[in-house]
Amino acid sequence: MSSYVVTGASRGIGLEFVKQLSADSENKVFAIVRNKANATNLHALSRDNVTILQADVTDPAALKVAAEVSTATDNKLDYLINNAGSSTNPGLTLDRFNTVGVVHSTNAFLPLLKNGSAKKILTLSSCLGDLDFTLAGEIEAQPSYSIAKAALNMVVAKYAVQFKAQGFVFMAISPGIVDVSGTNESGPGAVEEFKMLSRGVPKAAPDFKGFITPEDSVKKQLEVLNRWTVDESGAYVSHLGNKQWL
Ligand SMILES: NC(=O)c1ccc[n+]([C@@H]2O[C@H](COP(=O)([O-])OP(=O)(O)OC[C@H]3O[C@@H](n4cnc5c(N)ncnc54)[C@H](OP(=O)(O)O)[C@@H]3O)[C@@H](O)[C@H]2O)c1
Repeated sequence: MSSYVVTGASRGIGLEFVKQLSADSENKVFAIVRNKANATNLHALSRDNVTILQADVTDPAALKVAAEVSTATDNKLDYLINNAGSSTNPGLTLDRFNTVGVVHSTNAFLPLLKNGSAKKILTLSSCLGDLDFTLAGEIEAQPSYSIAKAALNMVVAKYAVQFKAQGFVFMAISPGIVDVSGTNESGPGAVEEFKMLSRGVPKAAPDFKGFITPEDSVKKQLEVLNRWTVDESGAYVSHLGNKQWL
């Protein structure tokens, strides 16, 4: 039996993490959403081993309450999946939410992870946070999101260095280009995003075959998460566990 917290669990990749992790009835999954009443996909899932908690990842006080509730019984947590993120701001600004939200979530759950047996923290990054990918593809699109994800990779590296001696495994994973339109009421965001990137992709990733499903992406991310050890802590890799982003 393992316990998991997943942020941004209402839809898309986060929802898929909850589905796959809770398929094992021995696991306990805590799904963090911004609006519990609107989390229809999670309510529809209706699994006894899934607890829905409400917290915005920009709100440390709400995260602290979620941490207290999620571990009320045993005061420990095995895995944290920092999934909440958004690429809605197209401009060249500093979009702090994608970086700072992960710091708040990680800090809120660290005391409980210290008592857990796995001590693993997976953070969703993006190929857009990679310098080589950006330069090879001459990718102009999504500057604020890309800057935030690049900073996030350093956040993960810093946590890894600081907590290596305690046996923690931190990792930043780019999930591929994932079609989340099936659970996204606001429409096919990733599809639109991909249109903006598409000019650069053939140059940066000549073998790119097209969108992958949330099922496939999460399955592969969990394979990487399960085999990763403290020796690789702090790395920034794709869902394939390497630098092949797409
Ligand atoms: N899909 C892709 O191709 C792709 C590619 C690269 C990286 N990623 C990364 O993968 C992660 C998941 O992406 P996705 O495609 O599944 O996105 P999505 O379908 O748009 O879902 C985003 C999730 O994040 C939550 N969220 C947004 N802001 C939040 C906040 N302040 N506090 C708490 N939750 C918040 C949303 O909650 P609400 O429902 O309340 O809005 C939603 O559950 C993100 O970190 C994204 O950057 C995705």
